[in-house]
Amino acid sequence: MYRPYVILCVSASIDGRISLGPNRTMFDLDERDDVLGTREEWEEFYGSFQERYRPDVYMEGSNMIVKEGDELRELEIYDGDPGELYLDYLPREAVDRPGRKGWLAAVDGRGRLRSGYTGEKDRPMLHLVSRAVSPEYLWFLRGAGIPYLVAGEARVDLALALVKMKEKLNVKTVLTSSGGRLAGALLKSGLLDEVHIRFSPVIIGGFNTPVLFASPDLGEDEPPVSLEVIETRACPDGRIFAGYRVVRG
Ligand SMILES: NC(=O)c1ccc[n+]([C@@H]2O[C@H](COP(=O)([O-])OP(=O)(O)OC[C@H]3O[C@@H](n4cnc5c(N)ncnc54)[C@H](OP(=O)(O)O)[C@@H]3O)[C@@H](O)[C@H]2O)c1
Repeated sequence: MYRPYVILCVSASIDGRISLGPNRTMFDLDERDDVLGTREEWEEFYGSFQERYRPDVYMEGSNMIVKEGDELRELEIYDGDPGELYLDYLPREAVDRPGRKGWLAAVDGRGRLRSGYTGEKDRPMLHLVSRAVSPEYLWFLRGAGIPYLVAGEARVDLALALVKMKEKLNVKTVLTSSGGRLAGALLKSGLLDEVHIRFSPVIIGGFNTPVLFASPDLGEDEPPVSLEVIETRACPDGRIFAGYRVVRG
């Protein structure tokens, strides 16, 4: 395969909502969110895929971390030649770090992840950025020693980012528990290989609450994405675990 194998694993309500309301990050979770599974239940679910696939990359979208409309940290002005900055940045200290098992990747097409978080000891951060981010942002990432791959103009070209991960970092498998927009974009681009959903017996509703796969409506002649079952399990308490392989047209 020319790109890594991509597996999505998420928890959802029966009506396909993945959050209790709009514009909530992982830092806004409270005990109400337990309706989609407690932390321990999530760790068991997610952990089962970590163990089964041993993914090289755990990938998330930026809305997991930063809210739309949040004020972003000001960055130092960069007055050098920006040309070099738009080349992929893969410092040896991160790539060849002793004990590195993989990467924590974030799709960050607008350059909004500005905490300077460098990841875990055995899984450094890897930002996937587009050419729309400012030179200041790339300079900031370099200053913090945070590796990045540049793919796409206005947004991250997800296909190219995955190919680069494979070619430059030998990434074979990506596990993502991304939000609905990223999952929708991956699915629409034919970049998802497996989908695993843990359904909770609740209905959340909402016009603006994130859903499993948020993407443009089907075109007139565009067929829905077909799935082939891998496993399903219904529990007496109403939870349903459903895993599918995406059928390639
Ligand atoms: N229940 C669960 O298992 C679960 C799992 C994950 C998240 N969540 C929840 O889901 C919510 C976030 O979901 P969301 O749908 O708002 O956001 P999201 O899926 O995180 O979507 C935003 C990310 O996708 C990228 N993106 C979207 N469309 C794209 C495209 N066409 N091409 C390239 N990149 C694209 C965005 O890039 P930019 O950086 O360029 O904007 C951004 O990184 C949060 O509330 C979170 O807590 C729940």
